[in-house]
Amino acid sequence: MPITSLKGTVMLVTGGAHRVGKAIALALAAEGAAVAFTYLTSTEAARQTRREIEALGVPALHLRCDQTSPAQVQGAVEAVLREWGRLDGLVNNASIMPEAPFLEITPEDWDLAQDINTRGPFLFTQAVARWMLAHGGGAVVNLLDESAVRPTRVFVHHGVSKAALWMLTRSSALALAPTVRVNAVLPGPLLKPQGWEEERWQRLAEAAPLKKPGQPEDAARAVVYLMREDYITGQMIVVDGGRTIR
Ligand SMILES: NC(=O)c1ccc[n+]([C@@H]2O[C@H](COP(=O)([O-])OP(=O)(O)OC[C@H]3O[C@@H](n4cnc5c(N)ncnc54)[C@H](OP(=O)(O)O)[C@@H]3O)[C@@H](O)[C@H]2O)c1
Repeated sequence: MPITSLKGTVMLVTGGAHRVGKAIALALAAEGAAVAFTYLTSTEAARQTRREIEALGVPALHLRCDQTSPAQVQGAVEAVLREWGRLDGLVNNASIMPEAPFLEITPEDWDLAQDINTRGPFLFTQAVARWMLAHGGGAVVNLLDESAVRPTRVFVHHGVSKAALWMLTRSSALALAPTVRVNAVLPGPLLKPQGWEEERWQRLAEAAPLKKPGQPEDAARAVVYLMREDYITGQMIVVDGGRTIR
């Protein structure tokens, strides 16, 4: 079924307890979707976000899921289907952004970035696609990062994982067409990464041609747009204040 209105649909957002994922979950809920979201460690934030979604008049579900585990990914998708009997959209938002000089990246660091940022979205996409292909369709939106398209010196394993996620976006869009659409949103600086100095963050944001950071809601609106538009697949919307055209 093509999604042109989100009212009455069921959406699953990974990493939705706080920050950008929360803004996406709330934006989808504000459009009338029932929203399930996963979290890993942010239990209290997840409860709060669930309450905020329900306050918008739609059902919510928070599910603990470590997406390095295929069984937990499958379990999260099955929990949504058990609860609401349908699944129309998936947002692969959960991610890590490890930073390390090239020579200090360990094999374990490398694997963790790929497991969470690429394999997790793959497992989620495969799990929801099995249901969507058998039940008329759906849509997937993946959250990328500038490092997917511009090389960096200190986010190499992160950048490679997001570049792979971009190729997963286009490949799964092709593999799952015409029934399931898959697109991506590439945000610029929206929220300061945890642990970063304010000054480093400001410098990064002001290097954008639009000279300011964006807001989580900027990316969330792009996600909503891609969920609704049923003639777009295999594409990305860049919401980055122009950073990638520098
Ligand atoms: N923030 C920005 O300015 C920005 C810029 C460019 C791109 N993006 C992209 O936008 C998305 C959201 O960004 P963000 O800054 O809000 O992300 P974030 O806070 O770094 O991480 C999002 C969530 O991922 C979850 N997570 C981490 N490891 C996990 C695992 N093994 N299994 C399941 N969940 C796991 C965490 O859940 P818990 O907290 O529950 O542990 C966390 O809340 C990411 O894909 C990011 O790459 C963000």
